[in-house]
Amino acid sequence: MTTAKTFYVTTPIYYVNDAPHLGHAYTTIAGDVLTRWHRQRGESVWFLTGTDEHGQKVMRTAETNGVTPQEWVDRVVDESWRPLWVSLNIANDDFIRTTEERHKARVQKFLQGLKDAGHFYEGTYEGPYCIGCEEFKLPSDLVGENQLCPVHSRPVEIVSETNWFFRLSAFAEPLLEHYRQHPSACEPLSARNEVVSFLEGGVSDLSISRSSFDWGIPVPWDPEQVFYVWFDALLNYATAVGLGDARNSVGGEKFATTWPADVHLVGKDILRQHAVIWPAMLMAAGLPLPLKVFAHGWLLVGGEKMSKSKLTGIPPIDITSHFGVDAFRYYFMRAIPFGSDGSFSWEDMSARYTSELANDFGNLASRLAAMVEKYCDGVLPAPASEPVLEAALIKAAAIADQCMLALDFQGGIVAIMDFCKQVNGYVTEQAPWVLAKDPARLNDLHRVLYATSESLRALAVLLHPVMPATTVLLWESLGADSSIGDISAQKLGSVYVWGQLPQGSIVTKSAVLFPRLEEKPE
Ligand code: ME8
Ligand code: MG
Repeated sequence: MTTAKTFYVTTPIYYVNDAPHLGHAYTTIAGDVLTRWHRQRGESVWFLTGTDEHGQKVMRTAETNGVTPQEWVDRVVDESWRPLWVSLNIANDDFIRTTEERHKARVQKFLQGLKDAGHFYEGTYEGPYCIGCEEFKLPSDLVGENQLCPVHSRPVEIVSETNWFFRLSAFAEPLLEHYRQHPSACEPLSARNEVVSFLEGGVSDLSISRSSFDWGIPVPWDPEQVFYVWFDALLNYATAVGLGDARNSVGGEKFATTWPADVHLVGKDILRQHAVIWPAMLMAAGLPLPLKVFAHGWLLVGGEKMSKSKLTGIPPIDITSHFGVDAFRYYFMRAIPFGSDGSFSWEDMSARYTSELANDFGNLASRLAAMVEKYCDGVLPAPASEPVLEAALIKAAAIADQCMLALDFQGGIVAIMDFCKQVNGYVTEQAPWVLAKDPARLNDLHRVLYATSESLRALAVLLHPVMPATTVLLWESLGADSSIGDISAQKLGSVYVWGQLPQGSIVTKSAVLFPRLEEKPE
């Protein structure tokens, strides 16, 4: 029996040295929208997120807070990270922590295999290390008089140790060949160009273990050492789905239907780890490479990357408590082209909230419900055709699907919201409140109300992956849950088919989808 491959989406696993900020929410929301879109197409999807808990950065944070690393990570994961994803309505299928036994055991087994195959050797390392990046630097990477890390603007430490090394240099040519043959394996184009020129510049072997501290996964053949945190962390994508388990075990079967990942979503800060080190590790083991690494841009604060280390992180609750979770999800996918940097601005978000969500979308829904209530006692009239809207919907649904599959969330949302604008224009032009005054035009009135309801049905389904809670309210207001079933069971492939809401559906006013905003808090 062959089972179809599951569409596998991942986010980075985030360092738990501190609480999450908008940047982490940004990647995870993108992963969630992509996941929900593919699910709504009827595909089987697996969405993984999690936390990266080893390494010096986390260890030192625990020390500063006077607790053991394990106590620290348990606390932050339970108090900050997991609850955030629940509150943002993230539909991940699994959550991996690198301190879990399932991860540690599979990492050790996998890396022992690479050792046995001759991919590692013992050597001495001496050079600068940035704990913020958890990365060895080249002297030429450092900036300014004080030779600071260019990412964290902080001093680096000089490390001198005997470590295990991975023969990464051997994979530079095979990786270049891989990216030549599979241009879509690294996107957007700017990211691919960066990776290719980095590889063309030649790659050194990589130190993959550390002996000066012990907060990591022990190297099985050399227990004085722990694996370098990135070597442990990158493997999460594969350990979470059963890497190395026997073919006929639960893990082995999961791996066979899930691996390779279809999309690793990452920020451009960690592009090289994902597009150079990670595929080289997989090549060394003879495993299939991820189909795509997509490196999105940064949310900026004062022109610099928002960051935990620089204390510029805005907690997501500061935004969601004012605008609501769905508007938050919508705004970041809509306002910033995925792949480019962007700045969050309270003013821009307020403006879009009011014009796109409250006026264009929310008002359309409440006007329609009010009119069906007033003119038809809340009972939906019979299906009627409206060729202009039908054609516009077919086009919008097709463009949205094409964009979402290409991770162009902005393009997808714009196509859907343009359709919403067309429906608004239609209602204004048809003026059902005028038709209602003339008994001879009852059929026209019914046609306009039906066409508007059908358009809203389609808008609810198309926007469900972006705004999962608000669209359910709309769905219920259209009576669609009782007449055609659960919104998440509606397939995108037939969303454009006109006439799905049956005559007699009970339309009711819902709670206001996007309430007027309060004054900006101080
Ligand atoms: O790098 N703008 O974890 P991390 C956009 N543990 N996205 C941002 C962002 C910003 N200003 N700041 C953070 C690590 N992100 C490793 C990953 S994966 C095997 C190990 C998002 O806590 C973005 O996805 O530093 C970025 O790549 C990630 O958080 C880095 O999170
Ligand atoms: Mg970081």
